[in-house]
Amino acid sequence: ALYGTERANSQGFDLTAEDQLTTIFTARDTPLNSATPILLHENIPGGAGGWPPAVAATQTITNPATGTALATITNADAATVTQAIDNARPWTAPAAERAAILRRAADLYESDFGPIFDILAREAGKTLNDAVAELREAVDFLRYYARQGEARDDNPRGIIAAISPWNFPLAIFTGQIAAALMAGNGVLAKPAEQTPLIAAHAVRLLHRAGVPAHALQLLPGEGGTVGAALTRDPRIDGVVFTGGTDTARLIAASMAQHLAPGTPLIAETGGLNAMIVDSTALPEQAVRDIIASSFRSAGQRCSALRCLYVQEDVAPHLIAMIKGAMDELRVGDPWDLATDVGPVIDAEAARGIHDYLDQHKARILHQIPAPKTGHFVPPTLLQVTGIEQMEREIFGPVLHVATFKARDLNRVVAAINARGYGLTFGLHTRIDSRVQEVVQAIHVGNIYVNRNQVGATVGSQPFGGEGLSGTGPKAGGPLYLPRFLAPAMPETDR
Ligand code: NAD
Ligand code: ALA
Repeated sequence: ALYGTERANSQGFDLTAEDQLTTIFTARDTPLNSATPILLHENIPGGAGGWPPAVAATQTITNPATGTALATITNADAATVTQAIDNARPWTAPAAERAAILRRAADLYESDFGPIFDILAREAGKTLNDAVAELREAVDFLRYYARQGEARDDNPRGIIAAISPWNFPLAIFTGQIAAALMAGNGVLAKPAEQTPLIAAHAVRLLHRAGVPAHALQLLPGEGGTVGAALTRDPRIDGVVFTGGTDTARLIAASMAQHLAPGTPLIAETGGLNAMIVDSTALPEQAVRDIIASSFRSAGQRCSALRCLYVQEDVAPHLIAMIKGAMDELRVGDPWDLATDVGPVIDAEAARGIHDYLDQHKARILHQIPAPKTGHFVPPTLLQVTGIEQMEREIFGPVLHVATFKARDLNRVVAAINARGYGLTFGLHTRIDSRVQEVVQAIHVGNIYVNRNQVGATVGSQPFGGEGLSGTGPKAGGPLYLPRFLAPAMPETDR
């Protein structure tokens, strides 16, 4: 069951229709947003109101494809976080009513696709393909959790802090909120500092659909300020976080120090994802899937392929094919429909990846050009001896490649497991018994055989990792929403 996906494909965004494309692209040169306040708690009946507070800092949002300013927004600070928690209330409407409102929000998201694609392209540098996939996933989350929770009237936990990353600023932002709300919680949503505009747009649609203002408040701002204030307030009953592994550690430490023991942390974090291609794999299929896994979304997916292992016997041929396929990629303006690889999120990200590539220049096997203005990184193929040589997750269009001898396959699997991450893994082979063996041995959340390893589908491919990659439960799966409900007390313990 693909839930919203089929509907989104068939009815939602017919990209061949000229009028719809016009809707998307005429907005290109108008300024996004402005200095409009985007914190929404002033709408709470009886709430403290008074936004923006005198001390809050403004922040400029930059278009990653051009490096130019897009909008100025007013951020929350620690005092506004306290005020928002004062105002927060669980959502007490019956589950069936909450589900109906989330479905209405899904409809609003779908019909609003023009402005959403516009903001995703200009604020997050999303290509049109990525923006379509992102909106589809967000809509799927709304419908999936609505369906899952509509018959449950269990007790919510209370007030949930939802802290999200910039790389899926609509889909992950919406997925966290939808599950927490569907369970009846009040939600304080902290978007990434790079992408508050799409978050504000989404919250407006959710409010318009009928989510009460006191049940969903937006708190844009810095992680070290707003995020940290949320995770040290003892009135918070649970934290759902997606982002880097180091940030998850900081949050866990803060929660352990300040929040009630047992307050749940759902953390979806980074990965050092590998793929193994043996000598029986179909080269054309493997190459197509390698390129999609490494370079789609400019490599800015937690699921993206970082370290490719190719069996020695076929390596020269396969690597030559990868280079040829890289030469076909178009890197550039997300507004151009022919673009395959857009910019990375900001100047800091671009600088970090450029520095990494400079340090490892001698090992570059292939690189294709990227625009010099804006925050672009040239898609690059880099040689390594194995995953143990990789220092960290490089969150961009950089693929590391190693070769292995057939007799060393088990050692390769052991080396991948030894890194301690466990998000995605890909395998290309035509040997059935090998699939069984490797799938049993590898420790990751999502395994993909003879296909690419990105773009899990809500409902049919629950997504999430283990070890350094996350706590579970998997997003878009049956165990996720129940984590936002208060655990039932066994009769004997009452
Ligand atoms: P990040 O950890 O820098 O930021 C994520 C969020 O945490 C942001 O909203 C940020 O403001 C907030 N934050 C930062 N410091 C904080 C603190 N001290 N307390 C509370 N909140 C704080 O991550 P990012 O750069 O936005 O995203 C990229 C990372 O996210 C990559 O490592 C990627 O692998 C990971 N990711 C994982 C998944 C998954 O499902 N496993 C999905 C997407 C991204
Ligand atoms: N869910 C996203 C993917 O599978 C991160 O690529």
